[in-house]
Amino acid sequence: MPQKTFTASINDKPATDAARAAILKNPGFGVAFTDHMVTMKWTPEAGWHAGRLEPYRPFQLDPATAALHYAQIVFEGLKAYRSKENEILLFRPENNAERLAKSAQRLAIPALPVQFFVEAIEELVRVDHLWVPASEGGGSLYLRPFIFASEAMLTVRPAREYTFCLIASPVGDYFAGGQKPLKLWVSTDYVRAARGGTGAAKCPGNYAGSLMAQKQSVDNDCDQTVFLDAVEQKWIEELGGMNICFITKDKKLITPPISGTILDGITRKSILTLAAEEGLEVEETPYSYQQWKHDAESGYLTEAFACGTAAVVVSIGTVRDAHGTFTIGEGLTGPVTATLRQRLVNLQRGVEADSHGWVRRISI
Ligand code: PLP
Ligand code: COI
Repeated sequence: MPQKTFTASINDKPATDAARAAILKNPGFGVAFTDHMVTMKWTPEAGWHAGRLEPYRPFQLDPATAALHYAQIVFEGLKAYRSKENEILLFRPENNAERLAKSAQRLAIPALPVQFFVEAIEELVRVDHLWVPASEGGGSLYLRPFIFASEAMLTVRPAREYTFCLIASPVGDYFAGGQKPLKLWVSTDYVRAARGGTGAAKCPGNYAGSLMAQKQSVDNDCDQTVFLDAVEQKWIEELGGMNICFITKDKKLITPPISGTILDGITRKSILTLAAEEGLEVEETPYSYQQWKHDAESGYLTEAFACGTAAVVVSIGTVRDAHGTFTIGEGLTGPVTATLRQRLVNLQRGVEADSHGWVRRISI
């Protein structure tokens, strides 16, 4: 028999049914975690090895652990969904595996083979399947795989030991307002990424660097930050944790191109395919902040939305900067956004037949 990649040690003190049910009733986002986790180690001698499925537990870390000092870390985010028929579905998990490998390459971290990534996800979801929320409430099980430099040393060089870990958290809406149209803040004081930097990688430093801008957004009564390009402060890039798309009166979907400074979102990519199927003309092209304001004010731009795994698809109602505010359309969720969101959600939850080969069923 082939050896299993992950040896299993089952939690003998899992959450009680009552405790789990209370969490699933109102899960929030990323605040509660399941009974198990997956870990794996990398060393130069053994490569990726020592895969374990084990009870969820805190790490014990040497204070000199390199990741804590120089942020040599990459991560991913994907979800497991429960269908009405009670199947557990993953959406394009190989894409997350491939992106983690790309992010790892940028951070000089050894890539985790796609097959180990997908196996880890399947093992964890299988053992913790009771934590996947029911389909009716719109919840899902958010999966957070990450790799960090676990060697204890303070020299600035790629580490010689890494730890892969996968944890899972039942989640509801990312935004407290649910599907309420977003209020966005356009950051002119801070940038997220520059050419040659790490903007295209999913690494914690990008998020740490966005927090002051996000704080400004919240201070200005906004939900998310729009980042502009680092060179001219002119071109729209993406939001702190989502990609951005625009819909025009003549049925175009415009979105900033994957230029090396933004994340190549899997939701974005899926939406572009669905938009083309819906008869929209898809344009991956630079779009300036001035043009956005002008098109919204003239009425040429009818809708805009944010998209990402955590957020799904949420419309953008208003946009604010230090000088004023403008509204997109009526400031509500428009019909194109609603259709694209519904199609995506239907595919993810097995309501629409999977003609794209995007859905992976997990046998329990
Ligand atoms: N952009 C950023 C900065 C993100 O953090 C995310 C979320 O993962 C996205 C875009 C959307 O990517 P995806 O659709 O793959 O979740
Ligand atoms: C995700 O959508 O998976 C992210 O990592 C973004 C963050 C807002 C949670």
